[in-house]
Amino acid sequence: MTNHPAPPSFAVIPGRSVQAALAGREREVIELVESAYRLHGSGDTVNPPSYFLRFPDRPKERIIALPASVGGDVKSAGIKWISSFPDNVSAGLPRASAVLLLNDLGTGYPYACLEGSVISASRTAASAALAATQLSRGRSSVGRVGFIGTGLIARYIHTYFAAADWPFERIGVYDTSADRVRGFSEQLRTTSRTPIVAFDSAQEIIRASDVIVFATTAGTPHVTDPAWFGHAPLVLHVSLRDVSTEVVLSAANFVDDVEHCLKAHTSVHLTEQRTGSRDFLDGTLYDVLTGKVTPPTDRTVLFSPFGLGVLDLALGAFVHGECSRTGELSTIDGFFSELETHGTTVRPEVRDV
Ligand SMILES: NC(=O)c1ccc[n+]([C@@H]2O[C@H](COP(=O)([O-])OP(=O)(O)OC[C@H]3O[C@@H](n4cnc5c(N)ncnc54)[C@H](O)[C@@H]3O)[C@@H](O)[C@H]2O)c1
Repeated sequence: MTNHPAPPSFAVIPGRSVQAALAGREREVIELVESAYRLHGSGDTVNPPSYFLRFPDRPKERIIALPASVGGDVKSAGIKWISSFPDNVSAGLPRASAVLLLNDLGTGYPYACLEGSVISASRTAASAALAATQLSRGRSSVGRVGFIGTGLIARYIHTYFAAADWPFERIGVYDTSADRVRGFSEQLRTTSRTPIVAFDSAQEIIRASDVIVFATTAGTPHVTDPAWFGHAPLVLHVSLRDVSTEVVLSAANFVDDVEHCLKAHTSVHLTEQRTGSRDFLDGTLYDVLTGKVTPPTDRTVLFSPFGLGVLDLALGAFVHGECSRTGELSTIDGFFSELETHGTTVRPEVRDV
């Protein structure tokens, strides 16, 4: 009997299913993100540059395409398509929205479309928690954590820090919007007993924190004085464009991927443009994971993660697997309908047995 391939299936995974698949799995997600970094560092991924769609008359807004392919146990290709419209927040909607498409590596066919903003926020937060653990090894004080920018990403990062048993002593918060500080603090109080202190300026919170998380929507550097970092904190520069070249040059610098991060007017990109070299970079997170580089404990350590599509894919494939395992996968019948190839038709009734 002739074996016919099964017609490709296509699933749509809504945000509620993504959240259900990831809820309470933060430690597992951190491990998945670490594996994806290791696969990327060892060359078992393809991660072309992100593509930025910008609008000439609306400079704050953008939609980014992040294509990628991951080997190892993940074995998937795909693309994240993520919008950032900062003014959404004042209208009561999150800034970012996204979809993630997964493609089968055997046929190339897309096999799933997932709500992508939860996956994106989760992988960003897992990466921050992993980096904080790795880059703070040997430091005696890490308990005073300061969040500059208190939106959705800050909330996810706090959740992932908590899941990683971060030894919080005090959580500092600072945002240009007092409403956001209030909302963030109220949310934290529902899950954490750590004292929360609101600061009035970036300078105050930086000087008073061992670990600083930048998660703002600042487009250009607003923190310019290296003296504020005189106590050599660990800085997770998740929003990438907050600190000046002088601050970058005063720190030991780690990135997720050199080629990716030295683009799109990030602070490290501006530093490369200013100095004409990459000598200020000390290594990647992969270098730290593999023991090739040991981050200093007596200097400011600045981690700038551009955010790699391989992380979204690894997490997306995990969510797809979970939804499939729990019977939550909702496939669209006949999504691919043109399946005739020169007289050979893929017929469901003669699927491979
Ligand atoms: N590196 C990555 O992988 C990655 C991934 C996802 C998001 N991000 C970045 O994280 C940032 C935060 O995303 P979000 O979804 O939480 O956005 P959000 O709009 O929900 O929150 C951003 C907050 O920053 C505040 N803010 C803006 N400028 C500020 C300043 N100068 N000082 C203090 N606060 C300021 C805003 O008031 C707002 O509350 C964005 O820049 C986004 O691009 C990075």
